Amino acid sequence: MNPASRRPLVAGNWKMHGSRADAACLINELVARGVGTGSSEAVVCPPFVHLEEARRRLEGSRIGLGAQDACAEEQGGYTGEVSAAMLADAGCRYVIVGHSERRALYAESDDLVARKFLAAGRHALVPILCVGESLAERERDATRTVILRQLDAVLGAAGVPAFGRAVVAYEPVWAIGTGLTASPAQAQEVHALIRGRIAENDATIAASLRVLYGGSVKAANAAELFAMPDVDGGLIGGASLKADEFAAICAAADR
Ligand code: PGA
Repeated sequence: MNPASRRPLVAGNWKMHGSRADAACLINELVARGVGTGSSEAVVCPPFVHLEEARRRLEGSRIGLGAQDACAEEQGGYTGEVSAAMLADAGCRYVIVGHSERRALYAESDDLVARKFLAAGRHALVPILCVGESLAERERDATRTVILRQLDAVLGAAGVPAFGRAVVAYEPVWAIGTGLTASPAQAQEVHALIRGRIAENDATIAASLRVLYGGSVKAANAAELFAMPDVDGGLIGGASLKADEFAAICAAADR
């Protein structure tokens, strides 16, 4: 179990699913189940167009709001993009940056991810920085190199103090949406690597940094993952669309 100084966080990444009515219904169910009222923190990250609906339904609850991505730029001719300022204005507190689907399907480079991380910080959003290796990278023993490359790109651009108000999510690409989960030991090894890299720069920030695990987390495997000393909660995809599953995962993160 992580130390008391790090409040566990469970964030639901809804990805591109559901209607506005589905979003409303899911949030109502989460609120009714008391999600967010335990000792861990709970956040939902709906699609952009459902943020306003979500914000209204979350009013008075203890569940936070986040977005799935942000533009690196401030404003202007960036058709289709949504800025960090707009997300803050829409009531978001968190924003996911560098999700592997963005990196793989939309060719987001380490440098672009770093600029998104910086944009989030400029508008007082807490970035949830995703890092993770593909199956091919793990098989050729490149996990460590890939994770450190992704992390160093952001550390170099933003500096270690920015991690004082950021979250990192380790999401092995081979575990996302596949039903394959990293074993608790595999997750712990990479989480310790991430925290260790931050500690080389600032031990105090490293000790308080929340490092989430993501990749096929379900109610059935959440507790064993969250029991690892450097796992401070989860970034949940598929299971965050089911109120009972997400509520159970949040409960598993409560001390
Ligand atoms: P999953 O997705 O829980 O469906 O594997 C996790 C994520 O992509 O954040």
